[in-house]
Amino acid sequence: MEIQLWRELLAPYQLAVDELVVKFNHIKQEYYDGRMYSPIEEVSGRVKRVSSILEKMQRKGVAFEELEEKIEDIAGIRLICQFVEDIDTVVEIIRNRQDLEVKLEKDYISQSKPSGYRSYHIIAYYTVHTINGPKKLEVEIQIRTLAMNFWSTIEHSLQYKYKEHMPEELRLRLLRAADAVDALDNEMASVRDEIMDAQNSNRQKANIISDILSNIENLYYVANEREVEKIQNEFFKIYQKDDMEILMRFNKQLDIMAETYRAQSVLNRKGM
Ligand code: GTP
Ligand code: MG
Repeated sequence: MEIQLWRELLAPYQLAVDELVVKFNHIKQEYYDGRMYSPIEEVSGRVKRVSSILEKMQRKGVAFEELEEKIEDIAGIRLICQFVEDIDTVVEIIRNRQDLEVKLEKDYISQSKPSGYRSYHIIAYYTVHTINGPKKLEVEIQIRTLAMNFWSTIEHSLQYKYKEHMPEELRLRLLRAADAVDALDNEMASVRDEIMDAQNSNRQKANIISDILSNIENLYYVANEREVEKIQNEFFKIYQKDDMEILMRFNKQLDIMAETYRAQSVLNRKGM
């Protein structure tokens, strides 16, 4: 096939990958904005390279006419979670989306592959709109934990290095490493609540502080300088106490103060 034809074939897949990366990142952002824990930690995507597509077609005996139906991972999205439990949440999010129609799911977590590979795969239909109209295509979404991702990245590069000739000893070591990764994920699951509490309070604190700072900044426009300076000094004192409760109360006070100034300025404008 000519290079120009490959470009035309792959362009909609690139669009699908770009769109889905934006969408999944946005889900993550929505959790953050809502001050909630996000089950998605990292989003990435790629379009399969022509050389890999050709290699896979040959390996699986796929003809050009059936390329788009049979090669399901031309568009690939990878969603990395912190904990195994998060994977179920992400799978549920995908099943419920109206822009993704699940074709099939492969659970290599309950049942890992002979290599030791663990991950949850969803093949889904997704529609993109190009200047030639809508096109429904397949995407492969891989969902795995940070630990699973670490293992598969290493294993993949070794596979690449040795092709079909991975030494038996190395294969066994990778299997043992896969067990260790499994144990690590289980161990992490048992401390998940504690880790999440710590992460949440860190994020919450960062949010409160940025709220306070923008509140103080806004007061500069309406209150007199001396007063704002006083507030700022008070904030530095409170900040050093490192107590969420106090920070939250302080921020509440600033909110009320800003509200009072706003009301006053409305009254002033009306000449009352
Ligand atoms: P491939 O021809 O390898 O794409 O397999 P497939 O289309 O029959 O589907 P499968 O579910 O087996 O694999 C899909 C994808 O999962 C692969 O393209 C890899 O990205 C990943 N994968 C599957 N098995 C392994 C493995 O043993 N090691 C690693 N590192 N990745 C794997
Ligand atoms: Mg693949």
